[in-house]
Parts: sequence; structure tokens; C-alpha cells
Amino acid sequence: MQQGLSVISQVQVLRDEIREHRLAGKRIALVPTMGALHEGHLSLVTLARQRADIVICSIFVNPKQFGEGEDLDAYPRTLEADVRLLDEIGTDLVFSPSSDDIYPSGFATKVSVAGVSEGMCGDDRPEHFDGVATIVAKLLLMVLPDVAIFGEKDFQQLLVIKQMVRDLNIPVEILGAPIVRAEDGLALSSRNEYLSAERRAIAPKLYEVLTDLAAEIRNGGEVPRVIEKARGRLIDYGFSVDYVELRSGLHLDRRTALVDGEEARVFAAVRLGATRLIDNVAV
Ligand code: PAJ
Repeated sequence: MQQGLSVISQVQVLRDEIREHRLAGKRIALVPTMGALHEGHLSLVTLARQRADIVICSIFVNPKQFGEGEDLDAYPRTLEADVRLLDEIGTDLVFSPSSDDIYPSGFATKVSVAGVSEGMCGDDRPEHFDGVATIVAKLLLMVLPDVAIFGEKDFQQLLVIKQMVRDLNIPVEILGAPIVRAEDGLALSSRNEYLSAERRAIAPKLYEVLTDLAAEIRNGGEVPRVIEKARGRLIDYGFSVDYVELRSGLHLDRRTALVDGEEARVFAAVRLGATRLIDNVAV
């Protein structure tokens, strides 16, 4: 093991260690994760390394962001392997708290971000973004990093967190990182592990359809019509479709046509059996 990687589970120990780094004038980056790490997560750590002296990765499967009947119990927990990967890539500190420490009995606060939390995954997973905002607020306040990094794979989540940080004046820079994909285009996700070989072979079609859709919109295709075509293709491939939408890349306002000079993205959430996949592509 590389010298110096500490795995900390207690908040007070975390705070004491961070204080030392801060006193030494170090810049601190935080990469929040739920573990089961893959190259997507590791790309965030690499970016963090470029932006700070001390890189902290948190690993916590946050029960508050899982809805009833979702995969909280089944979610992969691979702490030992995760720590090994983080050590190899050069992480200074892993924070892996227990659920009881994060949410002791009597915990009563909820952070809820209106606007960007609504629609798309906010409709399909009620309470999900409250759970995300609550844990990320807690992590940011525990670590008080200079910069925190989130993936564009979860684009709506990234904007929810940016909005929260703005609204609550949390003194941190939130940085988005590009989506890391498998060679066949499937966005890496801890949940890809759930897919059977047969479904894993279908899954990259999501990216293919979104890429085609983005190109059609860019080339002047009528948005509602090309979205319906994309939805039909996804269904034909065997996905059940939660949503396919064009939205502003800035505020996530829903669009039925491109707005001049505005960044836009196509977003989709689909299911293959019980596995939910999300992806997005810039137009
Ligand atoms: P998790 O799904 O573990 O993802 C942790 C971070 O990795 C998120 O910022 C996510 O967007 C990013 N990420 C995942 N797959 C990626 C990929 N293929 N390319 C680039 N980045 C990727 O997202 C969460 O955990 C949680 O909601 C969390 C923010 C930790 C709060 O509990």
C-alpha cells in the first residue's frame, strides 16, 4: 500500500486530520461516491488530484436516496477493493462512515432543492434528490473542501448540487466531469453489474440512440417527432422507457426546440428488467 492513505470512519477523526492539512495550507478536494468504484469514479479522483493537494474520497451508500423497493440492500459494497483502487491511483484519505454515525436516531433535517430536482429522475424517484442533497450538504460541511467533483453521468444531480451550494452559500467550487464509457459506449455505472450477459449486450444501444437523437436535433429535426422515434427504437431494443427528453444544459428547463446559443442535452432513463440505466448526450 502507498504510504499515507488513511481510511477513516468517524467524523471527528476526519475533521482532526483535515484540520492538519488545512493548517499546512493544503488545497482539499472531495469526491463523494457510494463505492463499487469503476473507471468513472476514478476519473473524478484523477481530476481532483489535478485541482488539489489533498484528495478525499467518501464511500457511503446513502439510504436516504433510495426509494422503497429500490436496490439499497442489493447495492454492491466492495470497500476493500475500492480502497485498493483508490490507493493505487493516489488518494490521501477515504471517508467511509457508518449509517448510524451519519443519521443517528433523532436525525430530522432534510435538504430539498426545488426546480432542478423536478422532472426526469425527480419524477421517477420521489425523495431521491432530497436524499442526495442532504448527504452531499453533510459531506461538504464535514470536509469543507475547496473543490468537490461530480460526474456529468448524473447531470441532474450535478445541477441540484450546484443549486444547493449557491443557495446555502457553501464555500466550495463544484466541478462537473465528463462521462466515462465502456468501449461499446455504455456509460460506466455500479449498477451495470446487475445486467445479465444478454442485457449487457443490449445496454449500449441507449447511448447509440441518444447520440443519433442529439445529431438529428442538431441537424434541425423536429424535436417531438425525433424524440418519439428514439423512444420507439429504445422500446424495440427491449428497454422500458422512463423518459427521453431535450433539456437546457444550464437550468434543465424542458425544450421542444433548440434555443439559439443555449447548451442543450438529451436525457434518458430506461429499464432493462429491474436495472435502471440513465445517460445523457450534449446536442
Ligand atoms: P455514485 O453513483 O457512486 O457516483 C459517484 C460519482 O461518480 C457521481 O458524481 C457520479 O456522477 C460519478 N460517476 C458515476 N459514473 C460515472 C461515469 N461513468 N463517468 C463519470 N462520472 C461518473 O452519485 C452518487 O454516487 C451519489 O448520489 C452521491 C453523490 C455520492 C451522494 O450519495
